[in-house]
Formats: sequence, structure tokens, C-alpha cells
Amino acid sequence: MTASSSDPVSARRSLRHWVLIPAAGVGRRFGAAVPKQYLSLAGRPVIDHAIAAFIDHPAIAGCVVVLGESDGWWADTSGYANHPRVHRAPGGAERCHSVRNGLDLLAGLADEQDWVLVHDAARPCLRRTDLDLLLDTLQREPVGALLAVPIADTVKRGSGGRIDATVPRADLWRAYTPQAFQLGLLRRALDHADASDLVVTDDASAVELLGERPVLVEGHADNIKITRPEDLPLAEFHLAQQQNAGSGTVD
Ligand code: CTP
Ligand code: MG
Repeated sequence: MTASSSDPVSARRSLRHWVLIPAAGVGRRFGAAVPKQYLSLAGRPVIDHAIAAFIDHPAIAGCVVVLGESDGWWADTSGYANHPRVHRAPGGAERCHSVRNGLDLLAGLADEQDWVLVHDAARPCLRRTDLDLLLDTLQREPVGALLAVPIADTVKRGSGGRIDATVPRADLWRAYTPQAFQLGLLRRALDHADASDLVVTDDASAVELLGERPVLVEGHADNIKITRPEDLPLAEFHLAQQQNAGSGTVD
């Protein structure tokens, strides 16, 4: 029997997927003269690796990059600066504000129910297999999903440089990106967080504040976010490993 268009599962399958790349940070913890998303990694800027993971994927309709006000690098550095399916939006004070601005731009291109995959510009090692796993999950999980990795280390809570408690790690995950939500829901969630004066550090947190429970999709731990200088050679190593294994993101 052919699935009818009133079947909610087949209806979800026809929704488009967009990518939103917040890239308006200054990389304070990294401490380079250039924001870390523009540093060179295996021959091209970090942000280009992030975009490359999506842009030629058949499920991706287009991409919005969110750039800082004083960004003097994008136009001259990125190989995607003139790409017809890469659009630009202005950054905000915190990541959540940058994402919110990107959603405003997307609202002119996308439907309320379309999926938005938010992915950090500073995360250049996303594997195609992990992206596909996430996209597959969205077909049956309308509340949204994110890539995440179970915590491997023992976790301590501390104050004043001393341990207060050991936190059982069995249920703890590191939240990675992409994090995927329907445009309308994510916009409502970020507005709600903002109205509550909360600065959320990822998109799922905002959706959680609405009482929803996004799905944790276990991805690979090499999908690191470049945060400090030692992360850059690590990302280069991961990319080389992925290339050798034939699952690289470089097109
Ligand atoms: N980001 C953004 N707008 C901001 C802050 C961050 O778009 N106002 C983006 C960053 O460019 C990055 C992602 O959000 O791609 C994750 O943020 P983070 O790793 O914290 O990057 P920075 O804020 O640049 O780094 P730092 O916090 O060390 O300054
Ligand atoms: Mg930051």
C-alpha cells in the first residue's frame, strides 16, 4: 500500500532540511588573532570543513552561516562565500542569539515544519555516517534530536579547588552538534529562553525548557569542537584518520 500524504510519517519525510552554522564567535579561549573558525586546517578554513559536511548532501536544501558584525574574514577566506545555497545572517551577543538571527533569515526560505540542523562552525570533523544517523532519526522523532557521546571520564563536582562529589556518569552525555529541530519549535524555544533571561549554550537546552525531551543520537567522539589551541592538531589528526578510513567529510 502506498503511504498517503495524510500519513504523518510520510509527511515528515517530505520536509526539507536546512543547515544553520553559527560562526559569530571570537574564539576567546583559543586566543588566536583570527577567530578559530577561520584558522587553516588541512588546507582550508575550519568553517569550510563544517559546511562541506552538509552542502552536497542530497537531503540538505541550503545553509545559513551566521557571521559576526566585524567579520573581516568570511568573504576572503571561505570557498563557500559565493556559493548559491549558502546564505548569510548577522551574529548576536551569544551563540543562542546568533542562532536566533539565523532562524529569522531561514524563515524567508523555509517552512515552519522544515528541519534546521544547527552545527558549530568550529566543529570540522563531522562524519557523513553520523549525519545520516541523525537524519534517519528525524524521520520518526518529531521533537528533534542531536548527536551526543556518552561521558567516558569519571566526573567530579567541585568548589574552591576541592571535590564536593563524584557525579555518577552512567546517564551523562556530551552534547555535540548537529542539533536538529523544526524551525517553528526552535524559534519558540529560543524566544522562551530569552524571555526568561536564560543564555542557553546549546539548542536542545532551549527545547528542554519547553518541557520536551529531544533524542540523544550516539555519534563518534571525533566530532570535536575546536576550543583551545591543542584542539587544532587533534582535528587535523581526526580528519586524516577519516580520510584513510574512507569516511571523510572532505569532498
Ligand atoms: N558563536 C556565535 N555567536 C556567538 C558566540 C559563538 O555564532 N555570539 C558560534 C561560534 O562561532 C562557534 C559556536 O558558536 O562556531 C560555538 O561557540 P564557541 O565554541 O563558544 O566559540 P566562541 O564563542 O568563538 O569561543 P569562546 O567561547 O572561547 O570565545
Ligand atoms: Mg563561546
